[in-house]
Amino acid sequence: MSATYHVKSFGCQMNAYDAERIGELLEADGLIASDMSEADVVVLNTCHIREKAAEKVYSDIGRLRERTGGAPRIVVAGCVAQAEGAEIVRRAPAVDVVVGPQAYHRLPELLRQGRAIDTDMPAVPKFDALPARRKQVGTNAFLTVQEGCDKFCTFCVVPYTRGGEVSRPVAAVLAEAVALAEAGARELTLLGQNVNAYHGEDAAGTLSLAGLIRQVARIPGIARIRYTTSHPRDMTDDLIDAHLEVPQLMPYLHLPVQAGSDPLLRRMNRAHTRGSYLAQIAGIKRRVPGIAISGDFIVGFPGETDDDFEQTLSLVREVGYAQAYSFKYSPRPGTPAATMAGQVPESVKDARLFELQRVIAEGAIAFNRASLGKRCEVLFERIGRRPGQLIGKSPWLQSVFVSDASLRIGDIAEVELIDAQPNSMEGRLVTLAQAA
Ligand code: 5AD
Ligand code: SF4
Repeated sequence: MSATYHVKSFGCQMNAYDAERIGELLEADGLIASDMSEADVVVLNTCHIREKAAEKVYSDIGRLRERTGGAPRIVVAGCVAQAEGAEIVRRAPAVDVVVGPQAYHRLPELLRQGRAIDTDMPAVPKFDALPARRKQVGTNAFLTVQEGCDKFCTFCVVPYTRGGEVSRPVAAVLAEAVALAEAGARELTLLGQNVNAYHGEDAAGTLSLAGLIRQVARIPGIARIRYTTSHPRDMTDDLIDAHLEVPQLMPYLHLPVQAGSDPLLRRMNRAHTRGSYLAQIAGIKRRVPGIAISGDFIVGFPGETDDDFEQTLSLVREVGYAQAYSFKYSPRPGTPAATMAGQVPESVKDARLFELQRVIAEGAIAFNRASLGKRCEVLFERIGRRPGQLIGKSPWLQSVFVSDASLRIGDIAEVELIDAQPNSMEGRLVTLAQAA
């Protein structure tokens, strides 16, 4: 009987993409997917971005060690593996293999070695060594086009866990996009920690993200393209123009600002100011009317005063985010901010997060209300809870619920938005635009 595996992924979409590729790799090596409760090999694809995320791995290891029917072989992959390396095995001897995000193509070999640690950032990129994509994928697929970061925001572990910024060559991205389209993907989300800094090699030199998007848009079957996450410093006019010129490129931009006060942005080493960000957003909204803006925020960064925090709230109101993610600052070992003076007490972080999330939710509801009565295309992705109900996404990434027995997953339909909830919209089918 063949051995079985399970991959559990934490953290960002890039980790979800890596988890997919780890699954494909293990299957190419003869393993078969199974539940975590039964698998012979369990891969924990970890996240190191905040302490809470990083600690989850140790509780999972504890549970796996005590698993009824015997412990599996345990692999710690992802960003905790990169950041903690051998420390993981010292703290949790039940772990067999530790493998970083740039070395996981070697996982089958590491498993054969028995116990192994590999946190190299090898010269031969993992992408060249990974097996082909699956023959069948869901409606939406992630595709990593760029990885790593050279920006060194003072709070962030990414430059240490994912390494410096690297763009995949254009031909490699396009080949993978074609494979995903042939396997059934209708929407591609191009991923990178700094995706708009993409500068991939092609025959004619290098291509920007906008150039890459124009190429991806030519692939038959790809009806929608998204990209995330962008940095304000790398936002170019040609990318903004692509939103006007490429019909498949969805009107949605995730452009994290992190905070609203200049002294804080300076200490975060963000390379933009409140004013430059607001001017940028105003320009983008003028050029691409109706584009949905989203962002990320950190509250309780060292030295954050009440006044700094008020400026974050006022920035949120001024931008009018369609949605946004917000986090309490979590000191990460080895990053400059972890040892800065003025660490903010947990109770203050809690109160600020609560208040910020209230203001973000107000903005999201306002955005959804403003969508009422609009007609737009919805790509249906999954089954809803009610009989005959499907859930899809509007161009602006709102979840849209439609009850109509004629719809199938993978369909794109013209829908009228008839009810606005804080986190979703209700829609009515107008007409099927493109069948799955
Ligand atoms: N503490 C809290 N949030 C963080 N982020 C990154 N590092 C930290 C940290 N140390 C947030 C940022 C980033 C998102 C992916 O996670 O908002 O944009
Ligand atoms: Fe977490 Fe960042 Fe690693 Fe993604 S890249 S898994 S968010 S630490």
